[in-house]
Amino acid sequence: MVAPIILYGSTVLRKHSAEITEEDNVLKIADMLSDTLKKAEGIGLSGPQINILKRAFVIDTSPLVEDDITIERFEGVFINPVIIDRSAEPEIYKEGCLSLPGIYEDVERAAKIWVRYHDSSFNVIEEELSSIKARIFQHEYDHLQGILFIDRLSPLKKKLIKNKLREMKSRQHKYITLKL
Ligand code: CO
Repeated sequence: MVAPIILYGSTVLRKHSAEITEEDNVLKIADMLSDTLKKAEGIGLSGPQINILKRAFVIDTSPLVEDDITIERFEGVFINPVIIDRSAEPEIYKEGCLSLPGIYEDVERAAKIWVRYHDSSFNVIEEELSSIKARIFQHEYDHLQGILFIDRLSPLKKKLIKNKLREMKSRQHKYITLKL
């Protein structure tokens, strides 16, 4: 089932997501995330972006692999993810976000991370991620803390996109008002 994607300006994106328990319908959450990600042709999507404040996200690098065969195919559902450790070595990469259409900026993140999560069958997985895998994982993990990639930009870059963000926010408020 495809869900509407929550856009920048909504307070939902700023909330902390709760741990997934056995009472949650994990398969339904995973399906909604996967279907919505596929429809949006994105590479990552987290629970809060479809108004589910639960610690889950999906990643699928397929759209990137189509453009660049050197990129590794990486696909999965990540439940209750934890970043155990991050390498000190930073890496810069241009990011975007389905909740912030039209904004793409360089973001500095750890080049390598060590993570733990449950897959959709609730198996515990521990692994080391690097390059694009580490990149997307850290971006999606941030969403579960209510953090957006624009929060990680330098003050100067933030200033440069301020008007764009303000416009997005006011559009969102208008939308909410009309829905009332
Ligand atoms: Co995002």
